[in-house]
Amino acid sequence: MPEAKLVLQGVKKSFGENPVLCGIDLSIARGDMICLIGASGSGKSTLLRCINQLEPIDEGTILLDGQDISEPGIDLAPVRRRIGIVFQSYNLFPHMSALDNVVLAPRRVLHEASEALHARAAALFDRFGLAPHMAKYPDQLSGGQQQRVAVIRALAMQPEIMLFDEITAALDPELVGEVLNLLRQLRGEGMTMLLATHEMGFAREVADRVCFMDGGVIVEEGPPKEIFAAPKHVRTQAFLGAVLR
Ligand SMILES: Nc1ncnc2c1ncn2[C@@H]1O[C@H](COP(=O)(O)OP(=O)(O)O)[C@@H](O)[C@H]1O
Ligand SMILES: [Mg+2]
Repeated sequence: MPEAKLVLQGVKKSFGENPVLCGIDLSIARGDMICLIGASGSGKSTLLRCINQLEPIDEGTILLDGQDISEPGIDLAPVRRRIGIVFQSYNLFPHMSALDNVVLAPRRVLHEASEALHARAAALFDRFGLAPHMAKYPDQLSGGQQQRVAVIRALAMQPEIMLFDEITAALDPELVGEVLNLLRQLRGEGMTMLLATHEMGFAREVADRVCFMDGGVIVEEGPPKEIFAAPKHVRTQAFLGAVLR
């Protein structure tokens, strides 16, 4: 059994009277890619935001390498550095080049010498085939290229885990593939990843495990072959029946 990188135990979260996470248990091994699937409103984004500590949880624990990162009063900055997150909207600063967007946060936070930081950022652009676009401004890039820059921006913080929230959902269909290819590459390089996605074909092909969320719980999880070919729970069957049609 590989060592668990991230463990969630009984995680609960409500917004006012609205329970959104109703007891989430999840264990992610180092180097695993886990796909979260489920209808809109099932709590996928909230789960990712809670893991990254963008939202405090009400109950339960979140362990990163065995350390409880959900304890009240814990210093959040180092936790957020270790857990990168990328959203559907890439929100690059329009008045900065792609490279400047990428070095902005690490310059402020990591206190790395400017030259070393630029070299490291340039190496990231190169590694993901974006070296020719480093000096361009966001409006000179396609949506797919901007989203890949947003992923590089998160990677520049040298996270140990990456969370992705529907990062291809806003892209034109012909641009989705290049972003999914980047995720494939990251997985190949051993990054631990948790992603909410509607790309069922991708989840089926690439995920180590798929978790189906409904009503704030993980209703069913397992290898994609099992989840997609023979879902056990009626709610999983209904969801997949609707989306795979
Ligand atoms: N900041 C918030 N304040 C109040 N309600 C929220 C907030 N964020 C999410 N919710 C609610 O939580 C539920 C789950 O939303 P979300 O986690 O975005 O689901 P998903 O990503 O699966 O579509 C929804 O009912 C949504 O309205
Ligand atoms: Mg969402």
